[in-house]
Amino acid sequence: MKLCVALDLSSAAENLAVVSQLSGLDIWLKIGLRSFIRDGWKFVDAARRESGAKIFLDLKLYDIPNTMADSAREIADRGVEMFNIHASAGKTAMERAAAAIANSAAKPILLAVTALTSFSADEFAAVYHAEVEAAAREMALMARGAGLNGVVCSVWEARAIKAAAQKNFIALTPGIRFADGAADDQSRVATPEEAARQGADFIVMGRPIIADRDPRSAAIRALNAIKNNAH
Ligand code: C5P
Repeated sequence: MKLCVALDLSSAAENLAVVSQLSGLDIWLKIGLRSFIRDGWKFVDAARRESGAKIFLDLKLYDIPNTMADSAREIADRGVEMFNIHASAGKTAMERAAAAIANSAAKPILLAVTALTSFSADEFAAVYHAEVEAAAREMALMARGAGLNGVVCSVWEARAIKAAAQKNFIALTPGIRFADGAADDQSRVATPEEAARQGADFIVMGRPIIADRDPRSAAIRALNAIKNNAH
């Protein structure tokens, strides 16, 4: 299991300061909407240069199939190692995005977001009229059928999704908190230890690391939890 650190701070300088504090650790860096909207590709390149770490571009694309395919191609051409789209954009949109990057030189890992980890069961039902775990599993199977490499889901769906999808299908799980940490706005949270036990392939941690007084120690704490619960 790999640790992805979410660079969600309020300036590129602050994010890059965290990146340099984490140098040499075996991590991926996740660049999401806040940082990308503000700092763009320049920041993606700077983070990569500063750390040498692989980049997960977490933009959660959601649009019509043609726009998804074109955008996926643009992202792949920039050489990021992983990015994501929403499963609820539908199977055609996922197929088109997967096909658009199939011949790219970088061949990034393409994941589908199932249910955001901030959704409570009630809030999810109000939007999707479905039960969250069953819907996440269905979306995962649709994503696999569309040729994607895996999904973003909560730890609590990871095991069932991996069992249903089989064959190296990736589960990347945000909503990770240390046992003594605050949940913030996340609803379906779990510890790094639990994520490892549930078979997640990647965990994403933002605030428990980047908002800590000592991000390096916090990241090492997560890496040790991963190592001690390896599957
Ligand atoms: O600070 P925290 O650990 O909650 O950060 C989680 C990160 O993962 C955020 O960047 C958030 O946008 C992202 N994310 C998520 N739930 C998803 C997909 C991505 O929390 N389903």
